[in-house]
Amino acid sequence: MWRLYATAGLLVLLVPLFVMAQDAPVPLHRAGFDTYARVTRSDGTWRDILIRPEDRRRFASSGTFATGTILMMESFRSSGALGAVFLAEKKVEGWRYASLPAGGTLDDARPAHSCSACHRLSTSGSPVFTLPLLRRNLTDADVQFVHCPRSGRAPCRPEVYD
Ligand code: HEC
Repeated sequence: MWRLYATAGLLVLLVPLFVMAQDAPVPLHRAGFDTYARVTRSDGTWRDILIRPEDRRRFASSGTFATGTILMMESFRSSGALGAVFLAEKKVEGWRYASLPAGGTLDDARPAHSCSACHRLSTSGSPVFTLPLLRRNLTDADVQFVHCPRSGRAPCRPEVYD
C-alpha cells in the first residue's frame, strides 16, 4: 500500500513541475523572432541569430534585406547564461546597431556605436556576417549550426559562414 502512496505522492510533485517546464515563458526580447543560425566558439560561448518571419519572407523574395529588417543576436556565456542581446536594423542609409537588456522589448534598445567597424570586415557582400547562413536556412528551414575555432567575437574565416 505504501508504494501506491509513494507513487501518487511523486506524481503530485512531478506533474506540476512538468507542466511548468512546458509553459516556460519565451524571453520577451525574443517574442516574434525565429532563430536561423547558431555560431559556437572554441571558448565554449555561442551566439544565436534571429530574424522575424516577415523579414525572412521579404529577404526570400528579394534576396536583399528590406528597410526595417531587424536581426537579433543573443550572446551566451560558456555557462549557458544569456549575456547580451544585440540588434542590427536596416535603415535606408545603412545598418544601425543597438543593444538590449535580455528580457527587454525592442523599445528598450539603446544605440551602440562601436559595432560597424568590425561588421565592415564581413566578406558576405553585406555587413551581415551570417548572411550565407540565412540563405541556407531559406532552403531547409533548419537552424544552421556552425563552429568557429576562434574565441570571443573575432570574425571567423569566410568558409565558416558559408
Ligand atoms: C570584433 C568584431 C565585432 C564587433 C565589435 C561587433 N560584432 Fe556583431 N558580429 C560579429 C560577428 C563575427 C558576428 C557573426 C556571429 C559570430 O561569428 O559569432 C556578428 C553578428 C552580429 C549580429 C547578427 C547578424 C550578423 O551580422 O550576422 C548582430 C545583430 C550583431 N552582430 C550586432 C552587433 C552590435 C549591436 C555590436 C555593437 C554593440 C556588434 N555586433 C559588434 C562581430 C562583431
